[in-house]
Amino acid sequence: MTGALLDSILDRSVVGGYTNVGYRIRSRGWSRSELPSLGGRVVMVTGATSGLGLAAAEGFARLGATVWLLARHQARAEQARIRVAERSGNQDVHVGVCDLSDPRSVRLFAERFTAQARRLDVLVNNAGVLPARRTLSPDGIETTFATNVLGPFLLTSLLLPLLERSAPARIINVSSGGMYTRRIRVDDLQCERGDFDGPTAYARAKRAQVILTEMWAKRLQRRGVMVHAMHPGWADTPGLKASLPLFYRLTRPLLRTPEQGADTIVWLGAAEEPGRRTGLFWHDRRPRPTHLLPWTHETQQEREQLWTQCAQLSGWREANTTSEKEEPDGPLPSSA
Ligand SMILES: NC(=O)c1ccc[n+]([C@@H]2O[C@H](COP(=O)([O-])OP(=O)(O)OC[C@H]3O[C@@H](n4cnc5c(N)ncnc54)[C@H](OP(=O)(O)O)[C@@H]3O)[C@@H](O)[C@H]2O)c1
Repeated sequence: MTGALLDSILDRSVVGGYTNVGYRIRSRGWSRSELPSLGGRVVMVTGATSGLGLAAAEGFARLGATVWLLARHQARAEQARIRVAERSGNQDVHVGVCDLSDPRSVRLFAERFTAQARRLDVLVNNAGVLPARRTLSPDGIETTFATNVLGPFLLTSLLLPLLERSAPARIINVSSGGMYTRRIRVDDLQCERGDFDGPTAYARAKRAQVILTEMWAKRLQRRGVMVHAMHPGWADTPGLKASLPLFYRLTRPLLRTPEQGADTIVWLGAAEEPGRRTGLFWHDRRPRPTHLLPWTHETQQEREQLWTQCAQLSGWREANTTSEKEEPDGPLPSSA
């Protein structure tokens, strides 16, 4: 059986691919030491206090990058900074405080950061939540949508000038395999209709992240900023344990370590291949389909509506980016 065929079978079986079984099989032949040094590059990771974000930050620090850990609480961010610096041996690790569910906090952070930063080579939008009940952010936006979609959308847009100045640069959006189960609902992005179901709201938000990844990629492909989404499989993190306790108990022996779940994040930020392509959805270092079920496909109009609502709700005014429709086909710029 060829490697590609076995890989696809693992992927479609879900349990085989998403667990540590899939990671162990696929990672034969990979080596972290194959990744180039990120010395001189600046990487920012949101949600870097625990789970996948912490593991990814450590992975980037090991590759020699200057790493910015973004977190909503200063004390937890500082703990993470000490841990990443100690474990990686790289002292060039810094913290930024920003509540992604609060657009004012995102704006304040981005303003301060862009005022002092020389460059930003990789932005990892990793922070995410799966609340059981419908709650609202400080701005009155439903928390799942505010944290997983709107905050990262606004942060990306505000850091874009810096990313472009640092081109070739990359944006990595951490989605979830759960998005395969849902279609986007542009008429109900904040789950105001019917009974609230946490996993459904989460899956829709993660679907939105993948659609927005493709839309950002089209807009930015000629500007030297590659945009990718990925899903980590199922990893043993505080977030998974708290959000899906039964699932966590049942699958625990098969869960990936946070480092295994974060492997593709670090690879997307450092390897050559993701610098030559853009707008793809990755898992275990390979591009994956974005739909597995016929009823989850969205229309072009729904994609545009999602973008418009994100821009309106976040208060961002788009300037100088090319929309999906306007972008002519052609080769992408090469990237380091
Ligand atoms: N673990 C999995 O199996 C799995 C599977 C699929 C996708 N994912 C995705 O992977 C990403 C990381 O998840 P994880 O499993 O590592 O979860 P985690 O351990 O709960 O980590 C989530 C991180 O996001 C931060 N965060 C939450 N809300 C925030 C906000 N409003 N502002 C700023 N930061 C905020 C958390 O900060 P605090 O420390 O302050 O809470 C934490 O650092 C998420 O996007 C998740 O959806 C995970």
